[in-house]
Amino acid sequence: MSRKTVLVSGGAGFIGSHVTVELSNAGYDVVIADNFSNCDETNYKGVCQILGKELPLIKMDFCDAKAVNELFDAHQIDAVIHFAAYKAVGESVAEPLMYYNNNLVSFINIIDAARTHGGCNVLFSSSATVYGETDVLPVTEVSPRQPATSPYGNTKQICEDILRDSVAAYDGVKGIALRYFNPIGAHPSALIGELPRGVPNNLVPFITQTAVGKRECLSVFGNDYPTEDGTCLRDYIDIVDLAKAHVCAVSRMVDGKMKEEYEIFNVGTGRPVSVLELINAFEKVNDLKLNWKFAPRRAGDVVAIWADPQRANEELGWTAERSVEDTLAAAWAWEKRLAGKE
Ligand code: WQD
Repeated sequence: MSRKTVLVSGGAGFIGSHVTVELSNAGYDVVIADNFSNCDETNYKGVCQILGKELPLIKMDFCDAKAVNELFDAHQIDAVIHFAAYKAVGESVAEPLMYYNNNLVSFINIIDAARTHGGCNVLFSSSATVYGETDVLPVTEVSPRQPATSPYGNTKQICEDILRDSVAAYDGVKGIALRYFNPIGAHPSALIGELPRGVPNNLVPFITQTAVGKRECLSVFGNDYPTEDGTCLRDYIDIVDLAKAHVCAVSRMVDGKMKEEYEIFNVGTGRPVSVLELINAFEKVNDLKLNWKFAPRRAGDVVAIWADPQRANEELGWTAERSVEDTLAAAWAWEKRLAGKE
């Protein structure tokens, strides 16, 4: 069987770098393309170190239609995974046009290049945020999407629709949307991981930065939610497990195993974990005490969301394997390495 080539837009970022490693390990040739607008070369270098080889790296902006076309001219691309997007919820509220422009135009350019180059398999990096607030838990792929509460969330919904409609209209374009729950952790080598710019918005980078002394104290947003311990419930998914789901999805597309030309899968564990449970697990597995305090609820947070991952388990042949403890140990090893403490 000839080797297949996967284009990974945003391949130098947190999720893109882990996916690149797993694709490469599974025998795919990977072309990484990134404009480095939200990351430096740390993860790219880490990927090459883990794999023991240099991977092709193209510095480009996917909003540049000409550059995207030239990329498809230059490479025989069997599948493209699109990560290159802005992802800060609060920033998207302040700068909606920046979000709509970057996140939609880049994806339109990719699908347009795919269809004019004889078709392509397109994997879109979507989010559980499309489910919004719901009482019916866990969520399945047929759970209704709720109106988005931020421009960021809206770009995820619109891109899903762009992919669905393009698959219906253009011969040879096939698509999978993976809806991620809360990706956390780092590669067990501690050579790649999350590199948030400025003050982290997400829980785990804030925890590890507090533990390492970069932040004084973690604020736990809300202690009066209608959950057992009063804090929100999420489905935290290990980044390497998440990356492996992409390999399964790409194989399903390139090996012609799709049942529909556009498919959606939840990528989660099916296991709800509260903020306090996560903090306790972090302290226990890493044998340390975290400085944290309760703070008011954060606007826009849903009380609880977790996945029913059955469709991915059965159709993709993928299941989340790593425990929250292993994942939090990996996140801590990465943070310590960044701080030069290990
Ligand atoms: C998790 C829990 C917070 C920080 C967001 C996006 C989503 C996705 C992942 C990304 C919540 C609490 C957090 C802190 C806290 N996409 N928390 N103190 O909000 O579930 O999802 O990130 O690119 O689309 O919406 O993740 O990690 O921010 O929060 O108490 O300092 O931790 O209230 O309950 P969230 P999160």
